[in-house]
Amino acid sequence: MVSSRSSILSMLLFLLLTPFVVSLHLQDRFLKCLSRNSESSFPFSTVLYAPNNSSFNSILLSTAQNLRFTLPSVPKPELIFTPLKESHIQAAVICSKKLEIHLRVRSGGHDYEGLSYVSEIERPYIIVDLAKLRSISVDIEDNSAWVQVGATNGELYYRISEKSKTHGFPAGTCSSLGMGGHISGGAYGAMLRKYGLGADNVVDAHIIDVHGRLLDRKSMGEDLFWAIRGGAGGSFGIVTAWKVKLVSVPSTVTVFTVTKTLEQGATKILYRWQEIADKLDEDLFIRVLIQTANATSQGKRTIATSYNALFLGDATRLLQIMHHSFPELGLARQDCIETDWINSTVYLAFFPNNTPPEVLLQRRNIVKLFFKAKSDYAKEPLPETALEGLWDIILEEELPTVAFTPYGGKMSEISESQIPFPHRKGIRFMILYSANWQDAKENVAKHVDWTRKVYKYMQPYVSKHPRETYVNYRDLDLGINKRTNTSFTEAGTSWGLKYFKNNFHRLAFVKAKVDPDDFFWHEQSIPPLPFHMR
Ligand SMILES: Cc1cc2nc3c(=O)[nH]c(=O)nc-3n(C[C@H](O)[C@H](O)[C@H](O)COP(=O)(O)OP(=O)(O)OC[C@H]3O[C@@H](n4cnc5c(N)ncnc54)[C@H](O)[C@@H]3O)c2cc1C
Ligand SMILES: *[C@@H]1O[C@H](CO)[C@@H](O)[C@H](O)[C@H]1NC(C)=O
Ligand SMILES: *[C@@H]1O[C@H](CO)[C@@H](O)[C@H](O)[C@H]1NC(C)=O
Ligand SMILES: *[C@@H]1O[C@H](CO)[C@@H](O)[C@H](O)[C@H]1NC(C)=O
Ligand SMILES: *[C@@H]1O[C@H](CO)[C@@H](O)[C@H](O)[C@H]1NC(C)=O
Ligand SMILES: *[C@@H]1O[C@H](CO)[C@@H](O)[C@H](O)[C@H]1NC(C)=O
Repeated sequence: MVSSRSSILSMLLFLLLTPFVVSLHLQDRFLKCLSRNSESSFPFSTVLYAPNNSSFNSILLSTAQNLRFTLPSVPKPELIFTPLKESHIQAAVICSKKLEIHLRVRSGGHDYEGLSYVSEIERPYIIVDLAKLRSISVDIEDNSAWVQVGATNGELYYRISEKSKTHGFPAGTCSSLGMGGHISGGAYGAMLRKYGLGADNVVDAHIIDVHGRLLDRKSMGEDLFWAIRGGAGGSFGIVTAWKVKLVSVPSTVTVFTVTKTLEQGATKILYRWQEIADKLDEDLFIRVLIQTANATSQGKRTIATSYNALFLGDATRLLQIMHHSFPELGLARQDCIETDWINSTVYLAFFPNNTPPEVLLQRRNIVKLFFKAKSDYAKEPLPETALEGLWDIILEEELPTVAFTPYGGKMSEISESQIPFPHRKGIRFMILYSANWQDAKENVAKHVDWTRKVYKYMQPYVSKHPRETYVNYRDLDLGINKRTNTSFTEAGTSWGLKYFKNNFHRLAFVKAKVDPDDFFWHEQSIPPLPFHMR
């Protein structure tokens, strides 16, 4: 009796401890492998975190931007590795392969579906977190900068402005985006109408491939260099740095935000905006942020449309352009704030007025929320009746954001196949629909359903065949890869063509060439093109 009870006990104990034992075991094996595959005698134990380490959770959560993927029920990695050098990443790729541990790579953690730090299907997995790989060197004479992927776009803007007030870089408006994922998927911001995307302005890159080799543009070849500038992160290798071309900005720029509610004629003004926003002077970018607000009559909610703008010039010239092209908005001199480019990036990231630009070095967004989002591209204006139907749906959600971002200008001059990002000529504006919430106890399904409802409602009014979508606003509703046999055709029809149009084929061709065994896999990674289609 006694002995069988103790054997049951020890079996129970064994079962209880097994996950832990496996994880510790893995940690030791990983450390040994790193040392064996590294020239220096670097103490890797100081940059590898297992769940039994007290810093594990804070590091895991540090850059996780969508709080949906931070809940206890969400899968967690077995290890987090925070390399300090490229050679550390090379060793990590080799060892993940050897020990058959799935690898996720994270730069800024802003992935809409948490793919850089959550793996639902593939376990165990390790996160290679590049937050410490973030040096930036700006060379004004060469009109360029090398930026490591763990740096944020805000840090890059700040470092450029330290050296020159008349240079800038055209990437995201939110200032905490990791340069790794951000540039990989395109990177648009308030200067896209004049200079295109961040990815359009990359001239060289460093990447670690599936064999652990460190390559630059020359050694990776033009196919792979093409694929990583817009083909999205996590499919081809680990990018460690970009060389970007700087663009010129005037010493005085102007920003404004003008809000119109339904009671102030928002629908007609927005209809007009849709007709002209992509045709305005390239120096002028006016996006529209649509949210709910309290109406003046008590207890009623209304729609508020905020025209949030950057003009690459002074207020006098801006007012002339607005008077000529968009008088309906009624922009006045007192709405205009003249400032310099670096302060305009702080303004467009929604930090309060007069926040010093040093806030860009804090690597944080103004707010962290739970959210689910989708995106669309519009080629024609939505009729006023369609906008009115949209208002009704927006009013059903507590904290919705719908944003219209104008294209045109430089965006329509670049060919669809120049880089993998295909949404160019003929696009008037991009639309983002986001349901946001602040409480972990909220009913997630309710908010997710709202995004599906608004997406369904919008179908008649947006791009078709394919219905285009921005890959950096990743949406797993569109479909996910099967682990064992990712189908190129299925991926293409569900999400590939929406994100990349006909570039999807070439992306899969490059994938087959550089990673035929699909080591760099995630729910929407590019599948290798099947042999018979090459
Ligand atoms: C609040 C917010 C605001 C945003 N604003 C904008 C905006 O203004 N303009 C815009 O264009 N986009 C915007 N985005 C979208 C943003 O560009 C993408 O989420 C982008 O992928 C973020 O990059 P990251 O490095 O922060 O993300 P991560 O979550 O770290 O990575 C995203 C994907 O890329 C992969 N990846 C990361 N680093 C590397 C690397 N070094 N090599 C290879 N693959 C890598 C990851 O595995 C993951 O699949 C916004 C997102 C959020 C959450
Ligand atoms: C946690 O891990 C880090 C990095 O490996 C290490 O420096 C630190 O000492 C660990 N903390 C504890 C409490 O073991
Ligand atoms: C975690 O487990 C590993 C076992 O390999 C051990 O070396 C390390 O000291 C443990 N850390 C803590 C904080 O218990
Ligand atoms: C709108 O009204 C509600 C209820 O009166 C209030 O709780 C909320 O703070 C108001 N919101 C704004 C933006 O004023
Ligand atoms: C930029 O903002 C800072 C902080 O508010 C301010 O001190 C500085 O004068 C601003 N620069 C310009 C050109 O407006
Ligand atoms: C993978 O899919 C292809 C095409 O659908 C099929 O021909 C092949 O048999 C599949 N392989 C496996 C292992 O299922």
